[in-house]
Amino acid sequence: MGNIYKEYDFFAYFYNKYWMASSPKYFREALELLLYKYLKKGDNILDLCCGTGHMAYYFESDGYNVCGIDGSKAMLDYAKNNAKKSKFFQMDARDFVLDSNFKAVTCLFDSINHILCEEDLLKVFKNVYNHLEDDGIFLFDVNSYESCQEVSLGDITAVEEENIFISKGIFDEKENMISYNLTTFIKEEDKWIRQDSCIYEKYYNEKIITSLLKKAGFSSINIIYGMDIEIEALEDRIFFTVWK
Ligand SMILES: C[S@@+](CC[C@H](N)C(=O)[O-])C[C@H]1O[C@@H](n2cnc3c(N)ncnc32)[C@H](O)[C@@H]1O
Repeated sequence: MGNIYKEYDFFAYFYNKYWMASSPKYFREALELLLYKYLKKGDNILDLCCGTGHMAYYFESDGYNVCGIDGSKAMLDYAKNNAKKSKFFQMDARDFVLDSNFKAVTCLFDSINHILCEEDLLKVFKNVYNHLEDDGIFLFDVNSYESCQEVSLGDITAVEEENIFISKGIFDEKENMISYNLTTFIKEEDKWIRQDSCIYEKYYNEKIITSLLKKAGFSSINIIYGMDIEIEALEDRIFFTVWK
């Protein structure tokens, strides 16, 4: 097993509480168009970089068998509670090994952008390819260039009585890299405990992604722009549906 991804551990509480409450609903609205029309009930879905398991919850509620993989133990602890019928494994997307194959693999909410170099992204794509059934489908989304540029426009904050979260995003246009500087304050008895961390996301254009997918063995690659789906919250995303 390689490098487990732990960077999300310390703010899993906030991710679960605030992201669970809004954005995933929009993804759910798009699932019929992007995924379900290619599947039948009971098919196996692997949700890669599943986070706190809200997509897993939708998949299991919609009648599929679900496995989730994430590198962060804290995120998975929430996932196990959110999607009780699904199975979860703490593994790295770059080198996970499961003893079953899947009709569909998903990797949503720009999780692909968390893979920070092309060499690692190719490893992820090859690994997904190896875990798909022969006619299996791989669905993922990535950030558009415009959405990366917008990251620097505003901070994200959540302020509760005993928990505070601040995220400051910066997009480095030379390196095509977003860095999110994260700070949490948690009140323990009468003391505030501060923790700082940084999460990075790499921007990849459609040409690079397509070429890496082909290198990994995928032949049929379909790109769908968020603005064509007509769900406002998805319009800055680019979706790939890819067949083995
Ligand atoms: C933006 S969150 C998305 C989570 C989930 N897909 C969702 O829809 O909310 C990215 C997730 O990817 C996980 N992650 C990032 N890099 C990873 C890696 N190399 N292997 C496994 N998990 C990874 C993080 O721990 C985090 O939970």
